Amino acid sequence: MADSPPNYQAIANRLRAAIRRGDLAPGAKMPSVRRLAEIEQVSAPTAEHALRVLEASGLVVARPRSGFYVCADMPAEPLAPQPGATARPVTLTANVHALFAQVRAPGLIALGAASPCAAWLPDKALARSMLGAARRLGASGLAYSVPPGRLDLRSQIARRAARWGLHISPDQLVLTQGQSQAMRLALQVTCKAGDVVAVESPCYFGTLMLLRSLGLRAIEVPTHPRTGMDLAALAQILQRHRVSAVVSVPTANNPLGFTMSIADKRTLVRLLDDAGVPLIEDDVYGDLSAGKPRAPACKAFDESGNVLYCTSVSKTLAPGWRIGWIAPGHRFEAVLEARVEASLAGSPLFEAALADMFSSGDYDRHLRRYGQRIKDSVRTFSSRIAAAWPAGMKLRAPDDGFLLWVELPAHVNALSLCEAAASEGISIGPGAMFCPDGSRYAHHVRINCAQPATPKLLAALDRIGALAAVQA
Ligand SMILES: Cc1ncc(COP(=O)(O)O)c(C=O)c1O
Repeated sequence: MADSPPNYQAIANRLRAAIRRGDLAPGAKMPSVRRLAEIEQVSAPTAEHALRVLEASGLVVARPRSGFYVCADMPAEPLAPQPGATARPVTLTANVHALFAQVRAPGLIALGAASPCAAWLPDKALARSMLGAARRLGASGLAYSVPPGRLDLRSQIARRAARWGLHISPDQLVLTQGQSQAMRLALQVTCKAGDVVAVESPCYFGTLMLLRSLGLRAIEVPTHPRTGMDLAALAQILQRHRVSAVVSVPTANNPLGFTMSIADKRTLVRLLDDAGVPLIEDDVYGDLSAGKPRAPACKAFDESGNVLYCTSVSKTLAPGWRIGWIAPGHRFEAVLEARVEASLAGSPLFEAALADMFSSGDYDRHLRRYGQRIKDSVRTFSSRIAAAWPAGMKLRAPDDGFLLWVELPAHVNALSLCEAAASEGISIGPGAMFCPDGSRYAHHVRINCAQPATPKLLAALDRIGALAAVQA
């Protein structure tokens, strides 16, 4: 008969299983040594030994004078400001195209792209709104919706924004084809080819692709995984470089998951206003604050019109409807012209249907349920990764949104890992995609949690962990 494991090992196994099931969530405090010894009826050194075993395998971290916590944290220190940081052209797009090629493959387990799973979107309510709009609009639904776009939708957007502190008139909004077009217009009206744009590091790769296609250079601002863009480092960069615009995702950041504090958002707006540098705010995840009041965007603190606010319903409602909008502040006229030049007009049917989703309350009802589902999935995915991925791995559950940024042990090559996973039908986002020239984040990956934690998906997470472990 096999020997039973020593006491400390058996206790560590039980705790490991509890973490794996999600009973002990990422970030949760573990029982103290004394409490664990009482529960397990063992000596304090044995209880401590069990916790140290979990610590050695990267599942928990010890905090001085506080105890052990389920590992959920990125290193808390800000990245050091890069001395002599240089503005660089964006060169890395191959991985992005590989990711899109994977997304096109049928039957893919899609943990890479940041798209909500279709089953969580309110297809029936969307169909109702679309049918209603088609009936209401008749033949006029077939015409161009000339920029700035339908007033009913702009009015609804303005009404909703007022609820979280942005008081804006419908006349200050331009409807766009998704956030990506809003961002493109914002960059077009603030920069010319060769200019430098300051971005978060890591930075959402769609922004990097836009910079590349407009011939702009990027300068990376050190960004804290908990608090966001390092504002002191940004101030230094503004002094040393001629920066034409700053792009930030300050709420539910992609990929880090932080939401900047209100105080920091105000400081960022003031800093850029004083420097005369426009802030281009990407708020595409802003509505995903389940169970909490919606975080105000930086735009709510913009008194001079220097913030160009860009967003869409792609992460919350219907990525394929391609509806977004921009509140460009004092650059309204320039953006309006650029919008016409970009693609002439929008679609009245989609715009009217979205106005209906907002006014009927269907969007808010959906957000409540969807937000809870995201929260549950983020929790389960995080626990699974914490339990099944190699020791030394670090992750931090996001403040808001549905993305997990995982730092693997330094020897893991995330690009090879992504290739190995792709050959087994699993797609994940390699960290290098979030850096202008791919020179950073070689052992990081991004995971999309906006999908149900099915046994198949959890098995896929385990498999990625196993593939990473093989690289040891
Ligand atoms: C931060 C961020 N901004 C913008 C987008 C794209 O938005 P849209 O589909 O509305 O163009 C994404 C999609 O992943 C994103 O993560």
